[in-house]
Amino acid sequence: MVDRHEVDERKGPAVSGYVGAKHEFHDAEYVRGWAERFAPTAPRVRLFDLVLEQISKPQVAAKHVVELGIGPGYMARHILERNREVSYEGVDFSEAMFAIARHTIGDLMARVTLTTADLFDNSWPAKLSERPGAIISTWALHDLGGQQAVADVYKRCFEALPPGGVLVNGDFIKPDGTAFDYEAGRFSIDRHFELLKAAGFAEPQCLAHLEPNTENPTAGENYACLVALR
Ligand SMILES: C[S@@+](CC[C@H](N)C(=O)[O-])C[C@H]1O[C@@H](n2cnc3c(N)ncnc32)[C@H](O)[C@@H]1O
Repeated sequence: MVDRHEVDERKGPAVSGYVGAKHEFHDAEYVRGWAERFAPTAPRVRLFDLVLEQISKPQVAAKHVVELGIGPGYMARHILERNREVSYEGVDFSEAMFAIARHTIGDLMARVTLTTADLFDNSWPAKLSERPGAIISTWALHDLGGQQAVADVYKRCFEALPPGGVLVNGDFIKPDGTAFDYEAGRFSIDRHFELLKAAGFAEPQCLAHLEPNTENPTAGENYACLVALR
């Protein structure tokens, strides 16, 4: 159910000092409206470019990229248009999202595999069509609802990547110094570092904190680009 905390992740104001959002990702009509409101803005495209830069480095071991939570396919399209080398695999648990992603990716779908999996199920890596050289994600893992679920995904990523592979997670975080309460899936960059290190990634880094706002944050602000080399 959508509750009083549901806010548009682009414009909605934080309600009563709380930052978070709830979604109906299996409802086709909800998903269509949500995807229209979530169309990429300039700062969001900046995140796509940061991810693109990381996966396009020559030292990244393989040419197969897996996106966790492909959603409407905005990042997928952005990357596939600009990096003609990679094959791409979008993981999601929503058939409604896959329908929109197919439309967004359009003529580039020949390089894309869509794989149905629930990221709560730790066996999701076994469903991948091939071993990835990069695993990427934007604005998805916070929806798992808490640190343990994100920690589990980080562990599975470490196991799935070969040495030289890269994980790039661009996601909503709780900024330091805020007086607001955040939903449990949005937590500090330092805590993400701890979870990444616990998963096996030696030196995780934060490339950017985008749309920072501690004073009057909306649910669509404060996301970080975290990168971890295997
Ligand atoms: C914000 S969208 C991702 C947007 C995408 N990065 C883009 O650029 O278009 C988040 C996606 O994560 C998916 N998702 C959320 N929880 C999931 C889960 N437990 N397993 C698999 N996918 C999940 C949702 O269905 C949704 O499609």
